Amino acid sequence: MAQIVTIINFKGGVGKTTCSIEIAAALAKYYGRRTLLVDLDPQASATFYVMEQHHWKTWQETRGTTYHLFDQSESTLPIRNMIVKDVIDGPAAVFGFDLLPSHPDLVDVDLRLSDFVGHTILQRYLDEIRDEYDYIICDCPPNFNPVTKNSLCASDAYVVPTIPDFLSTYGIALLQRSVNKLFLPARTANQSTWIGPVLGGIILTRIKANVTLHTAYCKQVRADYPGHVFNHTISDSVLVASAPDYRMPISVKPQPKNHEVDLQEQFKALAGEFISRIRHVNTLKKQGTHTL
Ligand SMILES: Nc1ncnc2c1ncn2[C@@H]1O[C@H](COP(=O)(O)OP(=O)(O)O)[C@@H](O)[C@H]1O
Ligand SMILES: [Mg+2]
Repeated sequence: MAQIVTIINFKGGVGKTTCSIEIAAALAKYYGRRTLLVDLDPQASATFYVMEQHHWKTWQETRGTTYHLFDQSESTLPIRNMIVKDVIDGPAAVFGFDLLPSHPDLVDVDLRLSDFVGHTILQRYLDEIRDEYDYIICDCPPNFNPVTKNSLCASDAYVVPTIPDFLSTYGIALLQRSVNKLFLPARTANQSTWIGPVLGGIILTRIKANVTLHTAYCKQVRADYPGHVFNHTISDSVLVASAPDYRMPISVKPQPKNHEVDLQEQFKALAGEFISRIRHVNTLKKQGTHTL
């Protein structure tokens, strides 16, 4: 049964989408894990990272997107129909990496979902397909709107990518507090088990080599969140900007090994660590080791 993980940071541009896609693709390619990436951002960056525009256009009309999950008038659409199976095809095909694409109209559904029942829509849909995957990874927008809350309600864990600088790391504590507050009423009803998602880890990404500030913030985040920060990190590299041009994640794209920074190896290692960290999530939940 899949473990469901929300990728989140209130700040935009910190590498959430890049980490979501690259981890999901690497989990399927190198670790044989059946992985579904759910794009919950109306910007649909994760979708267009791996899907051609014309393919998406037909897909959203005929099969549906995450918008259609939340659009009450369309709520009878089956979720299986919306999933693009083995989204990376061609000569470097990745088997077991599926995508549930997004739609710009997702931005409009938010206000209609503000109560608790409205926060469990995604959970109910994902329950239908949970047995078919090892991981379901939800790429969230940089906010705490009802779609993001739906993602958290459905998830076992949340993972926070961050650039090692002040503005990107500043919100991590705020985010933890918001998540804990969201699930506080449920905790009171059942003291022994934490039913909300737990912090699965913090990923330090877009690290610039030889930038003293980045080195200092990496150290600071590790000190502030002991045990929670991924050992493996991701460097800042121009390769990332070009990946969506090829509709091919770096982690799975065949490439010459002539770059100073081997980003493919970094994402592969990160995905391996993701597996071991997320494995511990259920134990953490049972222990109720969640600080408020
Ligand atoms: N490791 C990296 N090195 C260089 N650029 C990166 C890296 N990760 C992300 N980017 C770039 O930063 C921008 C924001 O990344 P993205 O993953 O979309 O962030 P978010 O989802 O948090 O908004 C994109 O233009 C992306 O190409
Ligand atoms: Mg994004």
